[in-house]
Amino acid sequence: MSFQLILCPTPAVGPTREMRGSEMAPMKASTSRLQLVSCSPEQKDNWAFKMTPQEVKPLLGDCLVLFPALSQYGGRGDCILIDPPYNSGNPRLPYEDCRSDGEWYDFIYPRIAAAYPFLSNRGCIAVHINDNQLGSLLRIMEDIFDKSNQLYITPWQAGKSGTGAGRAEFVVIFAQDKASWKLQAVPRPTLSNNFSNPDNDPRGSWRKRNAASGLNQRHRYPIQNYLTGDYVSPPGNCSWRREPEAMVKRLAGVQLCYRYDAALHRLEYTGPPCPASLASGVLPDYFFDAKDGRLYRKEFRSVRDARPTAFPSIIQTYNGNFPPREGIEAKTGKAELRQLTGESFDTVKPVAVEKLLLEYLCPVDGLVLDFFAGTGTTGHAVLALNRERGHSRRCILIEENPDIFSIARKRLAVATLPSANA
Ligand SMILES: C[S@@+](CC[C@H](N)C(=O)[O-])C[C@H]1O[C@@H](n2cnc3c(N)ncnc32)[C@H](O)[C@@H]1O
Repeated sequence: MSFQLILCPTPAVGPTREMRGSEMAPMKASTSRLQLVSCSPEQKDNWAFKMTPQEVKPLLGDCLVLFPALSQYGGRGDCILIDPPYNSGNPRLPYEDCRSDGEWYDFIYPRIAAAYPFLSNRGCIAVHINDNQLGSLLRIMEDIFDKSNQLYITPWQAGKSGTGAGRAEFVVIFAQDKASWKLQAVPRPTLSNNFSNPDNDPRGSWRKRNAASGLNQRHRYPIQNYLTGDYVSPPGNCSWRREPEAMVKRLAGVQLCYRYDAALHRLEYTGPPCPASLASGVLPDYFFDAKDGRLYRKEFRSVRDARPTAFPSIIQTYNGNFPPREGIEAKTGKAELRQLTGESFDTVKPVAVEKLLLEYLCPVDGLVLDFFAGTGTTGHAVLALNRERGHSRRCILIEENPDIFSIARKRLAVATLPSANA
């Protein structure tokens, strides 16, 4: 699959503009309506590169002009992650961000459309935006990717107070083909560190969880404590997790012998005074606590971490997806960049936000493209995940402003030093 460069075919854009639906989408569009542009052979030589072990490849230039040089990756990309100009109207930004709504549409549309062929059918695109251009962006995305491939429109808490632009932002995520796309399994963030291994269980650290949860009357019955002989009911408004027969099987699976006494609707312990599983000193997966006499279950950290988590419906800064004290917000990105490079850039994203998105949206060895790269935060996030988690993602960055590009290069050079602990 090769890249197709498309100039937005409709110059008049705005509230009255008639959307042309799928006929504008690059894979379906009639080529007679599309103007193809290409880079010069010289540009192509300069920018074409073979995917080497180099993890992050920064390229300088307008993405629309550079896409043809990436045609060798057509259909192979796993994730596009971009943070385009939001059209903030701020004339002090070091890039053009004061377009009319129609101009913004005409600027963004062909660039996203031209990047479409980069994605494999298992790939997806995530676009940062704020409330200013959310509506226009959605029209563009639905037109290019089709509404049926919409995955998430996820708000993120960019600041902790106030409302509107600058506080709430959004990440708009579409699959190339929703049926072929898969959310990556991401370990749960460990917000508390209450796992330990007091009995040297060979399966590693665990924590004590109540064996009772929820309320199901069929699951409310006493279980005999194998230590004391007492019958223990689930506390308060709780029940055991299983009905009696299933619980007997479950306990037998951890070498605790019980039988269900249907007449008395209770589980009677039938094993030896000291359960075999206790003789080794390792507590069984269900155990009675000697102190409070209650039944608990072990939750192993390895099992908990392997359980896939859902993509967050809100990317929360405080008490949410990030450890509370970290306090990730939009300005965190600026501070990170300044600390790393001594440089200042107003619209930089926090590395933690890009890491979170990449972890959920891109396979651990996936190929990433950011064609509005700015100071290279996406590349930094790829490097950080590769170092911290042993992942092997690779990333292509495109930035057109030479000054910003040099900040990105500077950042990438130091991004994996221990001091860049993002
Ligand atoms: C919002 S900033 C991205 C910031 C970035 N996420 C970061 O954390 O540093 C948008 C960037 O897109 C760049 N840009 C604008 N038009 C571009 C184009 N046609 N091709 C490549 N880059 C472009 C701007 O120079 C700017 O650096």
